[in-house]
Amino acid sequence: MTISGKTRVCGVIGDPIEHTLSPAIQNAAFTHLKLDFVFLAFRVKAVELEDAMRGMRGLGIHGLNVTMPHKKAVTAFLDEIDSTAKFLCAVNTVLNDNGRLCGFNTDGVGALKALQENGVDPSGKKVLLLGAGGAAKAIAFQLAKEAEELVLLNRTPEKATELAELLNQALGKEVKGAMLSPNTIQKNLRDSDLLVNATSVGMHPNDNQSPVAREWLKPDLTVMDIVYNPVETQLAKDAKAAGARVISGVEMLVHQGAASFEIWTGRPAPVEVMRKAAMWKLVEDVSR
Ligand code: ATR
Repeated sequence: MTISGKTRVCGVIGDPIEHTLSPAIQNAAFTHLKLDFVFLAFRVKAVELEDAMRGMRGLGIHGLNVTMPHKKAVTAFLDEIDSTAKFLCAVNTVLNDNGRLCGFNTDGVGALKALQENGVDPSGKKVLLLGAGGAAKAIAFQLAKEAEELVLLNRTPEKATELAELLNQALGKEVKGAMLSPNTIQKNLRDSDLLVNATSVGMHPNDNQSPVAREWLKPDLTVMDIVYNPVETQLAKDAKAAGARVISGVEMLVHQGAASFEIWTGRPAPVEVMRKAAMWKLVEDVSR
């Protein structure tokens, strides 16, 4: 990669940010397509977010990914927000369009692409989604449009019922929300086609935890875990052993990054290159 006087700068802002995979994924894509772009990570504290967004405009930074804890707060400093990001009250991608800062959210579309590109079409399916945090909300908004039936289970049940109600109102679809418990999981899994874990259960360092008891997993189920560290979660291992189809969290990570790449460059993202870069970085981080 050669940096020139015309190199366009993209990046990710968050706090903490040292462990982000985005520079590895995005720079691999820019290099592969020989685009004169570079991608950097910026640690931005909450109190400095406004200055950071002024800096984006002032320096002509072309695109940003936005991660914890800024996804909601950043909306106050943008000129335009697309309808999905507006519904989610969360932006993960900003495009600087000649000084106009435009916000998007690619989490939901990343999850949908992860399913579709792996041969799973959620339309007409019964989906069981675990979690009701930021990622779960984005996935639920996307999948509620496609699925025949969507059930949300969350440790804090009020968050699941509130999100279900919000989706019912916005989309006119009957989404159900309830408490995440061994009982509710077992009951709902019986007739589900697709299980998505959007909780942080199983994330490193709790590698051997799973939100679902292995005996309830079955061969006619597709399981997508959005946890990508470890690459193969306990839930993924158990699902594979039960004969279920498994889609790893790396897929959603890569596809939401690919959607951001397309917003910034207007070019189709080299998804396979991005996937390899993500896997290399994850393996490198583990072996450190
Ligand atoms: P993200 O932006 O990644 O979605 P988040 O908004 O903090 O992160 O959401 C984390 C999700 O994981 C929530 O659904 C959380 O449940 P609560 O709403 O009850 O907090 C869920 N979660 C985290 N730890 C959990 C645990 N030990 N058991 C069950 N659910 C858990």
